[in-house]
Amino acid sequence: MSLLGDVINNVDDVALTADEIRHLLSSVDIICPTVTDKFDAEIFSGLQVRTKLLANFGVGFNHINLTAAAAAEIAVTNTPGVLTESTAELALTLLLMCARRTGEGERHVRSGAWSGWRPTHMLSTQVTGKTLGIVGMGRIGSALARKAHHGLGMRILYSSRSMADESLVRELRAERVELDALLARADFVSLHCPATPQTKHLISTEAFSLMQSHAHLINTARGDIVDEAALVQALGKGAIAGAGIDVYENEPELAGGLQELEQAVLLPHMGSGTLETRQAMGMRALANVEAFLAGEPLPDLL
Ligand code: DGY
Repeated sequence: MSLLGDVINNVDDVALTADEIRHLLSSVDIICPTVTDKFDAEIFSGLQVRTKLLANFGVGFNHINLTAAAAAEIAVTNTPGVLTESTAELALTLLLMCARRTGEGERHVRSGAWSGWRPTHMLSTQVTGKTLGIVGMGRIGSALARKAHHGLGMRILYSSRSMADESLVRELRAERVELDALLARADFVSLHCPATPQTKHLISTEAFSLMQSHAHLINTARGDIVDEAALVQALGKGAIAGAGIDVYENEPELAGGLQELEQAVLLPHMGSGTLETRQAMGMRALANVEAFLAGEPLPDLL
């Protein structure tokens, strides 16, 4: 591979501060940000911008204000496709962990409190044959639907802005319904829509009141989609039975009370975190950088 140019690495692997981002925007041609690097509208203001490409290392881009980037004449790309399976795997992991209380069980054994097998000890919920409601039937939602239907015989409901792929709907016998009906009918609700102003707090007190008291909520999409304070309340008063959460409104902070709830399985935003996927994300970001330097169309232009 030929040398593309000089590279500055964020070797500490930590989020850039606003000052560091502003410094980079005014001094380098291309930046490869991650989800933790916030490119909001203010960051561009009053700046002599040199950067021409933000080749995001990730598929979600709600941390980048696309309008402000376009106004600064910066192209933005992402890495679609390569994290589909690993994120769907993690959604399924959370679903199973919630239903089968595996987080609690593991803590129980490690704490030394386990006194042996008992007929009524840590009773949980079977998943096989239950109904899964998928909010957002794009790549990741569809991958989860396949795994859940073929692996666990789950009935699939989905709500989505657009119809899912026809052959997939036939293959899974999936039913497209309005969000309210999905919330009311599903035993498990998994979120796979993008974070936009329209989906902010899509799952709030009202949504929880529609869900069944034995239902579980899974979120591997973005924290903003769920009103986290309302989630704590819903879990606390038993409006829903459990939640499996990988993404939060103010990462790495959690809403007050969430950490104490045994019926919440909490993971540290690791949906795409397999070695295979992180390597593929890097290669995909690099493909956009290479195309940009060669003056070719950007494969993943947003
Ligand atoms: C993404 O790509 O959007 C993930 O959330 C971070 O890997």
